[in-house]
Amino acid sequence: MPTIVAFFNQKGGTAKTTSTLNVGAALVERGRRVLALDLDPQASLTMALGVDVINLEWSIYDLLSDPDHPLSDVIQESTVPGMDLIPSHPDLAAAELELLNELERERRLQHVLDDEALSAYDLIVIDSPPSLNILSINVLVASDTLVIPIEPHPLSLMVLRRLFETVNRIHRLNPRLSVAGFLPTKVHHSSRLASDMIEMLREQFPDVRLLPPIPLSVKSAESIVDHTSILQYMPHSPLSNAYRKAAEALEEQVAREVAHE
Ligand SMILES: Nc1ncnc2c1ncn2[C@@H]1O[C@H](COP(=O)(O)OP(=O)(O)OP(=O)(O)O)[C@@H](O)[C@H]1O
Ligand SMILES: [Mg+2]
Repeated sequence: MPTIVAFFNQKGGTAKTTSTLNVGAALVERGRRVLALDLDPQASLTMALGVDVINLEWSIYDLLSDPDHPLSDVIQESTVPGMDLIPSHPDLAAAELELLNELERERRLQHVLDDEALSAYDLIVIDSPPSLNILSINVLVASDTLVIPIEPHPLSLMVLRRLFETVNRIHRLNPRLSVAGFLPTKVHHSSRLASDMIEMLREQFPDVRLLPPIPLSVKSAESIVDHTSILQYMPHSPLSNAYRKAAEALEEQVAREVAHE
């Protein structure tokens, strides 16, 4: 079955969506069969991949609310060749309340992904919402490992303790959940703040791998306007190369974790 990697941080705007898209595209370039899953009611990843959300018939919402709904209805090809998508929909915001009354509400996504049809993929990359609610708990319960995109900002470090407390609590429901690494994003190469923050991450979380950083670049948003990944939009840019390095390091870390089991 595929390795499930969630891009996770309860803080908003840390480049979870951008990282899911571009690391996913870099994994495809490395020859992996990748399924992207959008679990954010904002549906940013879905829109970034060119899907018309308003006219979307089926989405992850249907899979979470009806365990018998067929996966094949929902999975679609995306604008990144080789990367399929399970889209999100704004209705997903309602799922939060609806799930409250369901049995095993924390395991809904795990059950959705426990489907033989998904053995066609090597990896599933999940874009998570910026929150710690029932949807994000579902992400943590269903995932094998987390990438934590983090912006070089003092407030970014403050939320990490809470994130790790949550991960520890989740181990009761999902003992295999690991943290593949921090992914520093929007890093200005000459910023003192960024290098200080990376140093602080090293000191405060010595056991967590630091994945190669992603530079700050306006090209990032341009590729999204074009409904594709930066690897398609500007294949030879430093930004694309940074995502390639991050994807390589992520795969190394995943292989290490599997060898450890
Ligand atoms: N490397 C980068 N350089 C400059 N801007 C970037 C970079 N990566 C992402 N951004 C921009 O930062 C903003 C937030 O990115 P993104 O939407 O990926 O974050 P997010 O964590 O998914 O946000 P949310 O928490 O709302 O889901 C976007 O405007 C995006 O274009
Ligand atoms: Mg997002």
